[in-house]
Amino acid sequence: MTTMESLIGLVNRIQRACTALGDYGGGDNAFSSLWEALPSVAVVGGQSSGKSSVLESIVGRDFLPRGSGIVTRRPLVLQLHKTEGGVNEYAEFLHLPKRRFTDFAMVRKEIQDETDRMTGKTKQISPVPIHLSIYSPHVVNLTLVDLPGLTKVAIEGQPESIVQDIEAMVRSYVEKPNCIILAISPANQDIATSDAIKLAREVDPSGERTFGVLTKLDLMDKGTNALDVLEGRSYRLQQPWVGIVNRSQADINKNVDMIVARRKEREYFATSPDYGHLASKMGSEYLAKLLSKHLESVIRARIPSITSLINKSIDELESEMDHLGRPIAVDAGAQLYTILELCRAFDRIFKEHLDGGRPGGDR
Ligand code: GDP
Ligand code: NA
Ligand code: MG
Repeated sequence: MTTMESLIGLVNRIQRACTALGDYGGGDNAFSSLWEALPSVAVVGGQSSGKSSVLESIVGRDFLPRGSGIVTRRPLVLQLHKTEGGVNEYAEFLHLPKRRFTDFAMVRKEIQDETDRMTGKTKQISPVPIHLSIYSPHVVNLTLVDLPGLTKVAIEGQPESIVQDIEAMVRSYVEKPNCIILAISPANQDIATSDAIKLAREVDPSGERTFGVLTKLDLMDKGTNALDVLEGRSYRLQQPWVGIVNRSQADINKNVDMIVARRKEREYFATSPDYGHLASKMGSEYLAKLLSKHLESVIRARIPSITSLINKSIDELESEMDHLGRPIAVDAGAQLYTILELCRAFDRIFKEHLDGGRPGGDR
């Protein structure tokens, strides 16, 4: 692993340990700043625009509940941890710390069950996030957030306030300056009506942290195309627009797997009379690469401020550990210790890197 990867990996693990620690220590401490210091990526868009499908493509795994209607009903905070080769891929939920999932169909089932546990088998939503970690040699260190879709009207079985509740929930993620917004709009609807672009424009008016993603290109009316959007003439963003063809509901019903879906998507662009000239800059794999390049540059720029936050945390933690005489939950003590160890490791790697490398390090 490169130094950069191990530093990001450590911050990822620190974030996870801070989450596991829960509310211990209260709101505005070094941990919450640490948690927010690293960028995360949130998907935003109308219901059934393809948010969960896009996230799955980025991860390269089938594990999210998808489908028509309101399927995603709680935020899913997904942390990807890159492991060294030779380690088998597995997933772990924060609410089930002792269980390792190696079957990703069971991960999907657990997300559904855990959603129902909080909301009942209703069409209601809850702002309480589900935390899932995936450990794999094939992922980049990254935090992704899947969110319920924006809607315009409450349907049968939903309280009237649901429209505003969903918007407030989504907004609480995307308004953070470190949040990278994947604004998902379906190509078979007019971009001027896109809920994703509307909200992204409000919280990120300059468009510097918004990636426009256009799904369902395969479902556009014959004789029309999305070139005005994809080439940035309809709505300009600082980041490029990326067109996507996810699996259709029929594909999902037939259990078309990720590898086949990616191949079909590549073929779609390569053979398209409209998009052939853009083929190398379209599709889920390209989007994943684009995002990880962007994240790396954002994180590089932040390493100095993360380092100082980590040093502050080390100080706070050391004095915390000194005062362990007072009553403290055993679990919380262990978690604090874990965070302290991780912070020390970060500091050590960072310093070694500075000493050994060029001045200014890995920049
Ligand atoms: P979400 O509600 O925004 O999370 O959307 P989902 O990912 O659950 O997708 C909603 C439905 O749209 C599912 O039936 C998907 O199969 C379908 N879908 C999503 N993206 C595409 C696409 O690019 N093409 C086609 N044909 N169907 C898609
Ligand atoms: Na849906
Ligand atoms: Mg969804």
